[in-house]
Amino acid sequence: MTTPADIDVIPPRGDRPRVLSGIQPTFQLHLGNYLGALRNWAQEQERYDNFFCIVDLHALTTLPEPEVVRSSVLELAALFIACGLDPDRNVLFRQSEVSAHAQLGWILECHTPLGWLERMTQFKSKAGSGRERERAAAGLLTYPALMAADILLYDADYVPVGDDQRQHVELARDLAQRVNSMRGEVFHLPQPLIRTTGARVMGLDDPTTKMSKTTARSKPAHAILLLDPPDTVRKKIGRATTDTNPEVAEPLGAGVANLLDIHAALRGLTHDEVVAQFSGASYGALKRAVTDSINETLAPVHAQYRMIRGDEPWLLGMLAEAAERAASVADVTLLRAQRAVGLR
Ligand code: TYM
Repeated sequence: MTTPADIDVIPPRGDRPRVLSGIQPTFQLHLGNYLGALRNWAQEQERYDNFFCIVDLHALTTLPEPEVVRSSVLELAALFIACGLDPDRNVLFRQSEVSAHAQLGWILECHTPLGWLERMTQFKSKAGSGRERERAAAGLLTYPALMAADILLYDADYVPVGDDQRQHVELARDLAQRVNSMRGEVFHLPQPLIRTTGARVMGLDDPTTKMSKTTARSKPAHAILLLDPPDTVRKKIGRATTDTNPEVAEPLGAGVANLLDIHAALRGLTHDEVVAQFSGASYGALKRAVTDSINETLAPVHAQYRMIRGDEPWLLGMLAEAAERAASVADVTLLRAQRAVGLR
């Protein structure tokens, strides 16, 4: 039985390290989301005690249409499972159904120096400058404090993400240390878990910018979407930017390096192995190989997705049950944090 004194200490760890990660339900997921996050979560699910979150509160920072939020949440829940996450082994839940996220988010916002938030790369790029920044939602600025709450509520050891989220996970860690030094051992310190291939998939049309949902919405040639049919994948890869070399040769242009990285990540090869395999190959041959590796990976995902997405009552039931399991962990941490700051 939990006694009041127990509430103030971090609960003992189970056998397996704890993992938490999240994806925003905005627009369709792309290959970067798959290679930087989803695929890795599924491949490693046996090793960890897993919490994966559809971060619908975060999605509100861009003010999407309510109907888009509702349908994207279900699409993402179905994609989690279609990409191989077992709902019995992983807690696959929706952030807004666990009220502790918003509550701890506020406590952490109050402990976050404004300068930390203003320095975040994602805030600077998403909020723009001048007039555009004045109109940007305040939630874009405070977003990393809510993300820190997502992570810290579950006493997560690891946060498997793509490279673009490294700075946010580091902020969560800094924030945990700051609160711990002010108020005692409230939070467990998390670490980012980032792979060496596929952690930063670049835009197909412009390999100097990372593949992103925002750009994919206005420029279809920018990204492979996880639900793209095989022919669309072939056309998009066929049009992907390469460079002016006649064949694959070092030094690699950014577009060629990106295609090689995608192929390496999908086939489980290292950077050196994939460079050796394609050295001297024509760009046509490289693009055919990349197209095949993407389509072979996505075929089973599409088949599973079609089976699951139509059953909305089942998806909603699964999310509701997972939210209860998530809340049973998150509420303990929230209470500990509330007591530490004087709210209880
Ligand atoms: P989001 O929704 O933008 O992206 C979800 C995951 O996909 C990864 N990713 C990429 N990986 C490789 N190449 C790319 N081009 C690429 N684009 C995206 C991201 O790194 C991420 O792992 N703030 C987060 C969501 C979030 C979260 C959390 C993550 C909220 N709370 C707690 C971890 C823990 C985001 O916007 O991810």
